This record gives sequence, structure tokens and C-alpha cells, in this order.
Amino acid sequence: MVDSVVWDIGYLVSAALFIFGIKRLSSPRTAPQGNRLGAYGMFLAVLVTLVKMYSEGIIGFELIAAGLVLGTIIGYIMATTVEMTEMPELVALFNGFGGGASALVGLSEVLKRLQEGKIPDAGIELYATWIAIGLSGIVGWVTLTGSLMAMGKLRGGFYIPFTKKDDRGRRKWVSFPTWGPPWLNAVKGAILISCIALIGLTIQDPENYDYIYSLVGLSCLLGVLFVIPIGGADMPVVVSLLNSMSGIAAAFTGFVIGNNVLIIAGSMVGAAGLILTFIMCKAMNRTLTAVLFKSFGGGGRESVTRTKVGSDPEEVAMVCDGISKCVIIPGYGMAVSQAQHAVKEFADLLESHGVEVSYGIHPVAGRMPGHMNVLLAEASVPYEQLIEMDDINSELPETDVALVIGANDTVNPVARTGEGPLGGMPIIDADKARVVVIIKRSLSVGYAGVDNDLFYDDKTMMLFGDGKKMMNELNSSIKEL
Ligand code: TAP
Repeated sequence: MVDSVVWDIGYLVSAALFIFGIKRLSSPRTAPQGNRLGAYGMFLAVLVTLVKMYSEGIIGFELIAAGLVLGTIIGYIMATTVEMTEMPELVALFNGFGGGASALVGLSEVLKRLQEGKIPDAGIELYATWIAIGLSGIVGWVTLTGSLMAMGKLRGGFYIPFTKKDDRGRRKWVSFPTWGPPWLNAVKGAILISCIALIGLTIQDPENYDYIYSLVGLSCLLGVLFVIPIGGADMPVVVSLLNSMSGIAAAFTGFVIGNNVLIIAGSMVGAAGLILTFIMCKAMNRTLTAVLFKSFGGGGRESVTRTKVGSDPEEVAMVCDGISKCVIIPGYGMAVSQAQHAVKEFADLLESHGVEVSYGIHPVAGRMPGHMNVLLAEASVPYEQLIEMDDINSELPETDVALVIGANDTVNPVARTGEGPLGGMPIIDADKARVVVIIKRSLSVGYAGVDNDLFYDDKTMMLFGDGKKMMNELNSSIKEL
């Protein structure tokens, strides 16, 4: 009795830490603290669960220690070796692990109950338990295989281990397809209905293992088919949705094993992921239904046939001399080249000459939500200077220089025409500034594979080269003026 009060208090404190943590995540300034609170909450929840299980004799100390050591080593290696540009893949993988863990707990619970003969008598308890287990299974397995697909597609594919290396030292590469014939939605619908029917069958005949394993297999297949037609620019939305699903699976599993903190944490992840999914859909002017069922986000890649003479850093430095307002618009290329510190130095130099500098942040710039905010925060850019798309767009017509570093789709005016893969996506109106400077290595297309008219505009100066290198050269030229 005393024990159960202690466990409940522990779970209550960790749930409170999750709630305060998620509240603090709503602003970049308080986000690191929110992250820490969430981590403390999770640490406490894991600790309470392990002590509870140990005291109830469910698992032995050796197993707990082995799991903790192994998990800590894997987590540490992943966190310290991941490149900033690979974060979306890692997030997708973690979503998959979350869904898989919930599905495995649900499966082991049902197998345990069958072995121990603890099947509730027909009635509301049997329905509630078996429906919760079934739903945690469907959502969990779909999340696992869907997330693995999403990770593979974000990477573009994977190397096959042990295959012969080519002359550039690379092994055989298998790319992930984007495939979605019109009849695929009907197949997915049929599989989903079959999964739900299988839950019904397990209620009628709980001891039929065939139903259970068929549910696992079909759910895994559904996850693959769910993600395979989605590509290009829609991938971040799907990753966010899978994140939400991993939370929903955890909440169902919480019901199954009677764990309140899992229900609370899972529901919060589910709700937060869903909110983020809708924010991203809005930022890309897509409906969730369109992302999931209607088309291939991104489409094919356009070939670039036009040319444009590049400028040099000295020219750009001269243009920046004597201006009063500059907006920096970062994108994926800034992350790739790790140019954030050089960008900050550029801003400091301009500010020392009395120029007003701000940053225009597109919600889907880069490859993960908040990608640019994280990088610029790392370079100690003040949060007040990070301006969201709608607000910066009202300032751009009054801006002397818009410096676009490594961004492409998010400043592509073709989006305003409503056509093609970027059609209707809100963009940062870099083209409204008096002069546009674009730093990238070539005239090649961005993530969505669409050519960008802004590169060829008369007022646009292209600085061709690696983002960090060009920013450093630009900074040197400004210092020499
Ligand atoms: P993109 O449209 O992807 O364009 C990035 C540009 O960076 C490329 O055109 C590339 O041109 C340039 N680049 C690459 N490496 C560079 C380097 N070392 N130095 C300088 N430039 C470099 O970027 P964006 O404007 O940030 O748009 C993001 C896109 O990704 C959107 O379509 C979005 O939907 C999608 N997406 C977003 C997310 C999230 S949640 N943010 C996740 C997945 C996908 P060069 O090759 O010519 O250098």
C-alpha cells in the first residue's frame, strides 16, 4: 500500500515535469530548460518503474543493469556522432523505436496473459483490454515500419554492409523508392479494415495465435505502404505525424499495462506531434489528406538549363556598404556547410556599421522543425532577431539586402503560382528586397526539385561556393573596406 503511494507520487512528479517541460518548449529562449525538465521527468519515470518492477520481482537487477548500460552507450554514441544534417533521420528512427517498444509491450502482455490464462471473461473488460492491446499493436507496428521507411527515404537509401567497395570507397547503395499507384490507397484501406477485423476476431477467440501474428504482420505492411508513396517536400510532415503516432501507441500501451505516466506522456506526445503536423501542413500550404493520400510530395527533379554569371565577395561587400537594413534568410545549405558562426560574424560586422540585421526563418527551412533556430542559437544569435515568416515578409519590401544562405525552396517565387510540387507553399519574400544575395554552390534545384527564377532575377547576385567559405570571404572583404 505504502509502495503504491510512493510509485504514484513518483509518476505524478514526472508527469508534472513533462507538462512544465512541454510548456517551456514553446519558446526558443526557454526551450533548453524545457528539454532538461522533460529529461528529468523521463529519468524519474524510468527510475520509479525499474524500482517498482525490481521490488515486485518482475525483473532481476542484472537485466535492469544490462539494459541501462546498453541503452546509455547506444544513446550516447548516437547523440554525439550524429551530424546536424542527419537529425531528421535520427528523429524518425527514435519515433520508430517508440512505436516498436509500445507494440512489443502490448504483444508481450497479450502473450503473457494467454500463457497465464488471465483472459478476462467475455464482457466489457475483455473488449476494453483486447481493443487497447490491438490498437497499441496496430499503431505501434505501423509507426515502427513507417518510421524505418521514412528514415531510409530521408537518407535516400542505405549501403549494403560487406558488399565490395567501389573506387570511391563506397559499398553498394540501395535507394528507397517513392511508389504510389492509384490503387494503393484502396489496398491500404483494405489492410486497415482487416486489422480492425482481426481485433474483433481475437475478442471472439482470444487464444488463436494466428490472429495475433496476422495483426502484427499486416500492421507492419501497412506502415511500409503508408510511407512508400510519400516523398520530397512532404517527408517532414510524415515524420511529425509518426512522432504523434508513437505517442498514441504509448498511451494505448499505458492503458494495457495500467501505467498512468505512460498514458499522460503518450497523450502529450500524440497531441504535440499532431499540432506540429498541422503547423507544418499550413507552412507548406498542404492538407494532411493531400500529403498522405493524394500525391507524391516533391515530384520529379527539374533539369536546370539556364545560366547566371556569379558575383564575387568584394562586389557583395561593396553593396552591403552603407545599407541600413539586411535580412538573412538561412536554409539547408547553411546547415550542411556549418556556416552559422560565419553568418553571425557577418551580422556583427554589419551591426557595427549601424545596419539593422534580422533573420527570416521559414518553418520548414532545413530538414527538421526548428533546424535554423537551433543552429543560429548555437552561434549565439539573439532570439529577438529570429523573425517568423509572416512578420519578416512585411519587412522585406523595406529591406536593402536579403542575404539568402543555402535556402532554395523556401524562397522560390514559383510557389506563388500555385503550380508544381511547391505550388501554394508560403515562402519568404526575399525577391521583394532591393538586392538579393544568394550563397549556394550552383544553380541546382532544392529539396522539392524545382528550378528557382529568383536566381536569374536582375537584382540577384549569386555567390557560388560552399556556404561557410563564401561567408568567410565576404566577412574578410567587408573588413577590408
Ligand atoms: P532546399 O530547398 O533544400 O535547398 C538547399 C540548398 O542548399 C540547395 O539548393 C543547395 O544548392 C544548397 N547547399 C547545399 N549544400 C550547400 C553548401 N555546402 N553550401 C552552400 N549551399 C549549399 O533548402 P530550404 O530552402 O531550407 O528548404 C527546405 C526544403 O526541405 C523544403 O522543400 C522542405 O519542405 C524540405 N524539408 C524540410 C524539412 C523540415 S521539417 N525543415 C524536413 C525535410 C524536408 P547547391 O547544391 O547549389 O549548393
